Amino acid sequence: MTEPLDIRPADGRLGVLLAGLGAVSTTFIAGVLAVRKGIAKPIGALTQMGTVRLGKRTDGRSPGIDELVPLAPLDDLVFGGWDIFEDDCYDAARTAGVLERSLLDQVKPELEAIKPWPAVFDRRYVKRLDGPNVKGSRNKRDLAEALIDDIRRFKESQKVDRLVLIWCGSTEVFLRETDVHRGVAAFEKGLASNDDGIPSSMIYAYAAIKEGIPYANAAPNLSADVPALIDLAAKTGAPVAGKDLKTGQTLIKTIIAPGLKARLLGVSGWYSTNILGNRDGEVLDDPESFKTKEESKKSVLDYILQPNLYPELYAHLCHVVRINYYPPRGDNKEGWDNIDIFGWLGYPMQLKINFLCRDSILAAPIVLDLVLFLDLAKRAGMSGIQEWLSFYFKSPMHAPELYPEHDLFIQLMKLKNTLRYMTGEDLITHLGREYYD
Ligand SMILES: NC(=O)c1ccc[n+]([C@@H]2O[C@H](COP(=O)([O-])OP(=O)(O)OC[C@H]3O[C@@H](n4cnc5c(N)ncnc54)[C@H](O)[C@@H]3O)[C@@H](O)[C@H]2O)c1
Repeated sequence: MTEPLDIRPADGRLGVLLAGLGAVSTTFIAGVLAVRKGIAKPIGALTQMGTVRLGKRTDGRSPGIDELVPLAPLDDLVFGGWDIFEDDCYDAARTAGVLERSLLDQVKPELEAIKPWPAVFDRRYVKRLDGPNVKGSRNKRDLAEALIDDIRRFKESQKVDRLVLIWCGSTEVFLRETDVHRGVAAFEKGLASNDDGIPSSMIYAYAAIKEGIPYANAAPNLSADVPALIDLAAKTGAPVAGKDLKTGQTLIKTIIAPGLKARLLGVSGWYSTNILGNRDGEVLDDPESFKTKEESKKSVLDYILQPNLYPELYAHLCHVVRINYYPPRGDNKEGWDNIDIFGWLGYPMQLKINFLCRDSILAAPIVLDLVLFLDLAKRAGMSGIQEWLSFYFKSPMHAPELYPEHDLFIQLMKLKNTLRYMTGEDLITHLGREYYD
């Protein structure tokens, strides 16, 4: 046993700020409201349904995660956010078409009360989208200050004690790290000079982190994943996590690939294709936004299979990822994976996966967990990159000298061990010698 961290209690209201009130955000908010009313169950959320084993297997101690650590209760969450469209959350949820009207109508007054504030938006970074509810073309430093004003006004008017901000906006075009991202001073100079290397999502990230507010990025664009904002997070005590929620096809990929690798089965090809018809699919139809997503989706296999250590099994893997915008399917994505594998003496085999999933149904519980865990991290005095939340992301943020951990099962172990560490419980190594000595 080690000393537990000094975790402040989750007293008072927790403000949940969402940059982008589209399919994922509205499915998350409506879901939390429905769960609060006892209409539905929070399936898929570790914070609501998960348990953690403590001590030896023979001890029989497996409390709920919410019993082990002090998490904000769902009744204490208050929602606010920005979007380039003026629709309130009820109308936005109807447009997204994820949840049935019969469910939405049961939480209609609460959803209608959430009206988006004007967004920081620039079409250069999301080419397939345009909307009227924007702050206008001011200097980027002024825009950051306008976001901070929104945040402070919300905090004051809603009487919230703590905040978390999640980027659930559209995927921005692919950008590389440049000099403007290398330090806080350079970044702040770049805001003042309207540097092109600072897209809208980074202005939201800056506003949150500057205020010491935990920040997560549900999309694959860089956003907070640059040295300047990570340094700023260390100074202001803001926990950060990202990037790109691990939901449909990539979730399955990071479940299957570690299994194949564990048995040392070779993989010569992995062809993944999707059809998707929601607004996210429309944005990703632009090659520059798709490139950001493709980079995020493709990196997982290299890290899981480790071709540098197993060249005979994985060095010649052909990995292809396609997303096709197909409006009739809406948010109900269909993914196909064809996996060419080989076994003993090199004999080839094939594995086919056809996943008829619902993108935002898979994403919403992840947003809830991130909100509650980031708030917990903040109260426990943990700032900067929260590697223990890699479990939720396709491109987990990590220290520059490390490679990211993509294996879902190692990620889960890391998450649960972090909860044990926070509460002073023994970490579980799964060695198990003690049962036989
Ligand atoms: N659904 C999933 O399973 C999943 C998985 C991984 C990542 N993501 C990412 O999460 C994000 C949200 O997905 P979604 O399905 O809700 O998409 P969506 O298109 O339904 O919602 C995005 C919303 O963001 C708004 N927006 C865009 N730029 C903005 C800005 N600068 N400020 C404020 N609002 C802005 C759009 O108007 C839209 O309403 C996307 O980037 C998507 O790639 C989703």
